Amino acid sequence: MNFHIMTLFPEMIEQILSTSILGRAIDKGHISFEAVNIRDYSNDNKHHKVDDYTYGGGAGMLMQAQPIYDCFLDISNKIKEKAQSDKKPRVIYVTPQGRVFDQKLAAELSGEDDLIFLCGHYEGVDERVLEEIVTDYISIGDYVLTGGELPATVMIDAIARLVPGVLNNNESAMTESFSNNLLEYPQYSRPEEWMGKKVPSILLSGDHKKVDEWRLEQAIIRTKERRPDLYEKYIEENPPKPPKKSRRKKND
Ligand code: ADE
Repeated sequence: MNFHIMTLFPEMIEQILSTSILGRAIDKGHISFEAVNIRDYSNDNKHHKVDDYTYGGGAGMLMQAQPIYDCFLDISNKIKEKAQSDKKPRVIYVTPQGRVFDQKLAAELSGEDDLIFLCGHYEGVDERVLEEIVTDYISIGDYVLTGGELPATVMIDAIARLVPGVLNNNESAMTESFSNNLLEYPQYSRPEEWMGKKVPSILLSGDHKKVDEWRLEQAIIRTKERRPDLYEKYIEENPPKPPKKSRRKKND
């Protein structure tokens, strides 16, 4: 999977994505990313200007259409050439005005070969270029950040770790929080006792069936307590089984 990020601050993206698990996945060739500087596509050769005042008035500057469009054309032509196909990649504009990102959307996007992200800055982006190139408007939550770079890297991290091979242990992507509308169960490591708190004895029992049952029970309790909205979804999809009818003898 190849991530292409259109941004005015490529160094913000590069720093985060080339570190730790994602850095290793890049070295192994499971994913790649390029942070492309929109300023390099400005027609203003002197100051490389990419923003201007908003028609109709209002505070702040707006990112202009032309540099973004030329940057997009360059990226999509390179993708077309490399893939030797006419399949159009999805273009994500990270914006608080979008659909809210979640694990399900991360899983859906992890199946793409290429994804293009557009990071806005200042007061936003000229609407006409958004209409022309954007396929998905996505937000990371109901709050406003100063730019799209952080939300884009948040989404890329969540998507990339679902690409096969990126995580060492495939299982950890299967059993973690949200995979079936449940938060993950509590986990413990050595020592067996710390600050007077003991590791639950069932985890030391070696009985894998009992451990799995305990973990599911804990995940349900935790979800009900911390995320009642998710718990409702879980119960809808996994309605509690009615208690088994006890068989009565004829003369009872
Ligand atoms: N840009 C600014 N705030 C944002 C948010 N919450 N999600 C996505 N992009 C943003």
